[in-house]
Amino acid sequence: MTKLRILFTGGSGKAGKHAVRYLLDQGHRVMNVDMVPLNLPGVDNLIADITDSGQMFNAMSSYAGLDELEPGNGVPRFDAVVHFAAVPRILIRPDNDTFRVNTIGTYNVIEAAVKLGIKKIIVASSETTYGICFSDGKTNPKVLPLEEDYDVDPMDSYGLSKVVNETTARSFQRRSGFDIYALRIGNVIEPHEYAELFPNYFKNPEVRRRNAFCYIDARDLGQIVDLCLKKDGLGYQVFNAGNDHNGAIIPSKELVEKFYPGVPLSRVLGEHEALFSNRKIREVLGFNEEHNWRKYVKVD
Ligand SMILES: NC(=O)c1ccc[n+]([C@@H]2O[C@H](COP(=O)([O-])OP(=O)(O)OC[C@H]3O[C@@H](n4cnc5c(N)ncnc54)[C@H](O)[C@@H]3O)[C@@H](O)[C@H]2O)c1
Repeated sequence: MTKLRILFTGGSGKAGKHAVRYLLDQGHRVMNVDMVPLNLPGVDNLIADITDSGQMFNAMSSYAGLDELEPGNGVPRFDAVVHFAAVPRILIRPDNDTFRVNTIGTYNVIEAAVKLGIKKIIVASSETTYGICFSDGKTNPKVLPLEEDYDVDPMDSYGLSKVVNETTARSFQRRSGFDIYALRIGNVIEPHEYAELFPNYFKNPEVRRRNAFCYIDARDLGQIVDLCLKKDGLGYQVFNAGNDHNGAIIPSKELVEKFYPGVPLSRVLGEHEALFSNRKIREVLGFNEEHNWRKYVKVD
């Protein structure tokens, strides 16, 4: 299997640290570019700000570690960039700053990667592009399940920043011909969060309505990133990154009737099949989930 030299932005964060660990376990070399270091043996850290274009060009044309001085062949080129760094939702920073950091940051990362000839770029988009998560009031999706060809229309600064980022990715892909894949990541769940969060989700399912009841295990997200790294030649792609089932005990058909009445279904759903569909990553990338919530939460 090819071991890749990967520049990973935002690897110190909630999702990134699990994805980075997964990539290390596959034998890849990872340099984490973040404002804070990730303390994980085997990971190189470079403290840099994605909103500074010069820093992104510099980081991407840099040694990953002191050991790379030894061969004396100069700086090797990164094989891939995985871009997770962002302000990860609304109401952490003012809206304009969320939009600025996410859109300028993503522009800088993709531009530097493309102009330095790095031919595989994976960027973190979000389930919030579908426009339900941070909408004012209760809004319904136009159709279910949520699939990648949906006409995304968020009304918040974070979701909008991710839609803009997908357009940025598409534009750079068109110009370069490189592979640029955007992952619409579902609600990320770390291993310890199943016990903390899921019992309440089952007691009060309405709290998951805005997320379309989706979740992605942080380790399974690592697998999805790795599959994207392995799958070449797809050009510009958008993939939902979610697990196979809803994070709910109510069957899918009942969830739709109860929480999204009147919303049409584009196809018949499996009993617990995710309303945030992961069909594309299963069919195109060969995703095979390892961490269904039923492994970690008991239901009476
Ligand atoms: N957590 C989720 O449920 C979820 C869902 C959908 C999409 N996403 C997306 O996945 C990615 C990772 O999310 P997360 O939950 O791990 O977020 P996080 O906030 O835990 O991690 C983001 C990381 O980016 C870094 N960062 C922020 N601004 C930076 C800058 N200007 N320069 C360099 N680094 C910077 C932070 O230091 C942090 O380590 C983000 O792009 C987020 O929008 C997350």
